Amino acid sequence: MKRIIPSGPVAGTVRLPGSKSITNRALVVAALASGTSRLQGALRADDTDAMVESLEGLGIVLSWAGDDLTVEGSGGSFGTGDVEIDVRGSGTTARFLTAAATVHTGTVVVDGNRRMRSRPIGDLVRTLGQLGAAVEVLGDEDRPPVRVHGSSLAGGAALLDASRSSQFASAVLLVAPYAAGDVVLELQEPIVSRPYIDQTLDVMRAFGAEAGWDGPTTLVVSTGGYQAHDYVIEGDASAAVYPLVAAAVCGGTVRVGPLPAGSLQADLGVLPVLERMGAQVTRHGDDIELTGSPRTLAAVTEDMNAAPDAVVALAVAALFAEGRTSLTNIANLRIKESNRIDDLADELRKLGGSVETGDDHLSVEGGELAPADIDPRDDHRLAMAFALAGLRIPGVRLENPDCVAKTWPDYFDMLEGITTPLVVAIDGPGGVGKSTVSQAVAGRFGLGHLETGGMYRAGALAVLEAGLDLEDEEAVAALIDSLTVDIVDGQVILNGREVTAALRTEAVSGASSRVSAIPRVREALVALQRRWVDPEGEGAVVEGRDIGTVVFPDSPVKVYLTARPEVRAVRRVRDLGLREDDIPRIASELAARDQRDSTREVSPLRPAEDALVVDTSDMPIEQVVDRVAAYMLERR
Ligand code: DC
Repeated sequence: MKRIIPSGPVAGTVRLPGSKSITNRALVVAALASGTSRLQGALRADDTDAMVESLEGLGIVLSWAGDDLTVEGSGGSFGTGDVEIDVRGSGTTARFLTAAATVHTGTVVVDGNRRMRSRPIGDLVRTLGQLGAAVEVLGDEDRPPVRVHGSSLAGGAALLDASRSSQFASAVLLVAPYAAGDVVLELQEPIVSRPYIDQTLDVMRAFGAEAGWDGPTTLVVSTGGYQAHDYVIEGDASAAVYPLVAAAVCGGTVRVGPLPAGSLQADLGVLPVLERMGAQVTRHGDDIELTGSPRTLAAVTEDMNAAPDAVVALAVAALFAEGRTSLTNIANLRIKESNRIDDLADELRKLGGSVETGDDHLSVEGGELAPADIDPRDDHRLAMAFALAGLRIPGVRLENPDCVAKTWPDYFDMLEGITTPLVVAIDGPGGVGKSTVSQAVAGRFGLGHLETGGMYRAGALAVLEAGLDLEDEEAVAALIDSLTVDIVDGQVILNGREVTAALRTEAVSGASSRVSAIPRVREALVALQRRWVDPEGEGAVVEGRDIGTVVFPDSPVKVYLTARPEVRAVRRVRDLGLREDDIPRIASELAARDQRDSTREVSPLRPAEDALVVDTSDMPIEQVVDRVAAYMLERR
C-alpha cells in the first residue's frame, strides 16, 4: 500500500519514457527487417520486456545498451520449431505477434496472463485466415491462447472488424509487407482509435515499407519487406498525460518531452481537452509545457475515441472540475488492462465522485470528496491516474502501486520530482481557534503541524530573559539570530531547553508581538519556518499571521480565521484559566496586539487575496474544522 503525499503546485521537467506504442511497433518491424536496426530511446518496461522476450522466443537476437535496443533482423523469417510465447499482460505483443508469427516455421502458441485470456482476439484471427494464414483460437469465446501454424501470408483482400481494437489492424499491417502479394485491408466501421493505425503506418514507412490509406476505410500494403534502420523513439504521449494532468489539478507548470511537433501519438489529443478545462499549453521545441489553474478547472464533454488511454486521467481530473464532465465513445475501454469504465467508476466513487456509466461513456462530477484506499485492479493507468487524485485529496492510498511498471517503472520517482508537499496556511489574530483547528486538520489528514507563533514567542522569551530593551531593534535582532529554536511534536525547544509552558504568559505574548515587528527577526524566523516544512516531507498545516501572504504564498489552501473581539477575549480568558473579570483587560490587550500585528510595516496581519475567510464567532470548533477540511479537498 502506497500513501500518496498531497501536493501544492507542481514544477519541473519530465523526460518521458520512450513511447510504448512506438517501441513495440518498431520492435516487430526491426525483427522482421533485413539487417541490424538500432532503436534509440526505447521504453524499458513490462510491456516492452514482454515483446523483447517473446521475440527472443521466436529466435530474434536483441540487446540493450542504456535506452537503446539493437535488433538483428530476421529478413522476414523467424526461427523454426514449435514454440510457446508468454506475452503476459501486453496487448500489443499478443496481437502483433499473433500476426507476425505467421513468418515462423513451425507452430507458435501465443498466451498471456489471466487478464489477457479475457481480451478478445478472434477478429484478428479471422482476418489472418482470409489472408492465407492458419491460426486457431484455443481459448474460450475468441480469446487467447492462439496457435499459429507458420506459413507466410498469401496476401490479397481481407475484411477486418476494427470496432473493438485498432491493434488488430496494426497487427495485420505490420506483417503485411511479408505477404506473397499486396494486401488490401478493408476496415468495417466504426474504426476505433484511428491515430494508432497512422502510428503503425508511420513506423512501417520509416523501415522502407509502402503502406497507406486508400480511402477512409481501406489500407493498402505492398509486398517487399522492411530494411533495417536507426530509429529514434519519441517520448510516450500516453505517459505524458499524467504529469500534464498533475499540473492541471495541482496548479504550477510542467514540461514534458521529447514529443516532436509532427508526432502522431494519439494521446496528444489530451492537450486541447486540458485547454478546454482551463489549462494553458505551449510548445517549446520538442517539449510541451502546461500551466494549470486548478481553482477554475472546468468540466468538459469530449468524444475520446481517438485518445482512449487519456480517459482514465481525465476522469480523475474531472473530480476537481466545476460541473459534470462527460467522456464518450469509449466502449473499447472495457477490454483494456481493466474494465476502464466500470472499474474506474467504482474507484472514483470511493473518493466521493458522482459517476454515471453507460456502454460507451462515463460522466464524472466531484461532489464531496474524501480520501480512500484505491485498488487499481493491476491496471497501470488506473494506478498512475489515482496517484494524481492523491495529490489533491490528502490521505489517498494505493494498493499494488508496482503495477505502474507495465509502462513506467519510475513513475513515482517522477511524481516526487515535480510535486511539492502541500502546505495548508492558516492565518488570523489570537483567540480565533487557529491552533485547535490547525491541529485537528493536521491530525485528520496525517500532515505535520507548525505553530509559527511559538517561534516568535521563544524569541521574545529569550529577549526578556536577557533583559534587553524591546526598543533596541539591533540588539534584539542580534540575539534572535544567535538562538536555536525548534518545534518538535508541538514542544518549543529554545537553545536545547524545552520552554513550551513558559511561552503562554501575557508578558511573552506582548513582547512577541513587538519582537515580530522587527524586519530582521522576521527574516530569520521565516527562513526557519520554510526549512521546518521539509521539501521532501509529507506536507504540513502551518499557522501564524503571514503564512499565506509571505511564508508560503504558493500554498493552494489558505485560510484566514477571524472572530468578534469579545468572543476572542472570552476564549483567551478560558484558555489561560483566568477569571471572568479579566475579560476587559484581555480584550484590550488583544486589541492592542491586533492593532500592532496588522499595522506593522513588514508582513502585517491580513488575509491573502485567495484565502478562505471564516468567521468562527458563532461556530463550534468541529464545524470550523469540517469547513477547512472541505475547502482543502475542493480547493476552489
Ligand atoms: O499566534 P501567537 O499568538 O502565538 O503569536 C504570537 C505573536 O507572534 C503574535 O502577536 C504576532 C507574532 N507572529 C507573527 O508575527 N507572525 C506569525 N506568523 C506568527 C506569530
